[in-house]
Amino acid sequence: MATPATQKAWIVERMGHPSRALKFRSDWPVPSEIPKDHVLVKIQAAALNPLGWKLMQLAPNFLAKRPLPAEYDFAGVVEKENGTEFEVGDSVFGFIHVSITLKTRQGTLAEYALVPDKCVTKRPSNIDAIHASGLTLAGLTAWQSLNCTRLEAGQTLFIYGGSTAVGLFAIQIAKARGIKVVASASSKNEELVRKMGADGFIDYTKEPIHKYLTSHPPSPKFHGIIDAYGLSDPSLYTHSAAYMAPDGVFVTTTPAPHRISLKELGYFVKTLAATTWPAWLGGIPREFKFPALKANKADLEALRNLVAEGKVVGVVDSVYEMQDALQAYERILTWRATGKVVVKIVE
Ligand SMILES: NC(=O)c1ccc[n+]([C@@H]2O[C@H](COP(=O)([O-])OP(=O)(O)OC[C@H]3O[C@@H](n4cnc5c(N)ncnc54)[C@H](OP(=O)(O)O)[C@@H]3O)[C@@H](O)[C@H]2O)c1
Repeated sequence: MATPATQKAWIVERMGHPSRALKFRSDWPVPSEIPKDHVLVKIQAAALNPLGWKLMQLAPNFLAKRPLPAEYDFAGVVEKENGTEFEVGDSVFGFIHVSITLKTRQGTLAEYALVPDKCVTKRPSNIDAIHASGLTLAGLTAWQSLNCTRLEAGQTLFIYGGSTAVGLFAIQIAKARGIKVVASASSKNEELVRKMGADGFIDYTKEPIHKYLTSHPPSPKFHGIIDAYGLSDPSLYTHSAAYMAPDGVFVTTTPAPHRISLKELGYFVKTLAATTWPAWLGGIPREFKFPALKANKADLEALRNLVAEGKVVGVVDSVYEMQDALQAYERILTWRATGKVVVKIVE
């Protein structure tokens, strides 16, 4: 069947809550020209990420290059290609890096998306499109965060936010590298976090996590910490000398406020001070890193291989029909989704 000229897509038209920012359209153009090293993917499923709703609510139109289709993660089938390793009909998954969406104005909450080769890989046969759709953005973030910690097999990693999508991938990838993992989450997610491979578990809801770790320091101290949730309060980092080894690295997925309020802005100022004031002048004597996600084909292939080997699985919280995408946003906005919130585009 010939590729249609127009498609259904959820378009981000303005800044605001998804219910205000998004419009469902049936007349959005399907790209007809496929640039070199790109594929046109017929999307089967798109997974939501906090990045989507955060940008909708925080970035003004001129910065976000609106209007454009929402979201970044996908699984689908190659419809067309130009000079890539893929063939028409290949089952694939991947993401469109946010910096690329700003140039190409593509998004994955749509029937078709144009994606550069470096952001796509073949879907292993042991995972379906729904589960594969949520692998890339969170999985690569976990992979690249773990690389920043420089941890080796036998060392111990603490993951704050073990039940977030990034945290669930970080646990599995760390275990695949032979790293011991202690993870925190709310008690309802203990079983899942342990099933993913965590050796130790802490319920972060009982007591502020930095207080708990200071009064129960691990022995030996953690060799690295990943804050997969992205705490705006920097206390877990500022107290880390009590529970992280001197050469340990603290990695966060987001050091920025989750919402705009005076309290969150206060945390942001504290974070800036704590992460920039040098240790020799009395600053925090532990390394701090915030790695912005990179579109790296080698990392994507490594993640794919772990999935193909059954060492990493995708966890899905819920699945919505395309016309119900606003309900999917309501779900992810609760911050209680355990695993990916997925929107089914076609069967
Ligand atoms: N830097 C980057 O390039 C990058 C890339 C991807 C994601 N991120 C950021 O990473 C963070 C996680 O993203 P995600 O997609 O993994 O999130 P997510 O799966 O949507 O997170 C949902 C989970 O957050 C947990 N949670 C809620 N409040 C919490 C709190 N106060 N402390 C700890 N955990 C809490 C909940 O588990 P419990 O019920 O067990 O608490 C829930 O299962 C987001 O801030 C996102 O923006 C950054």
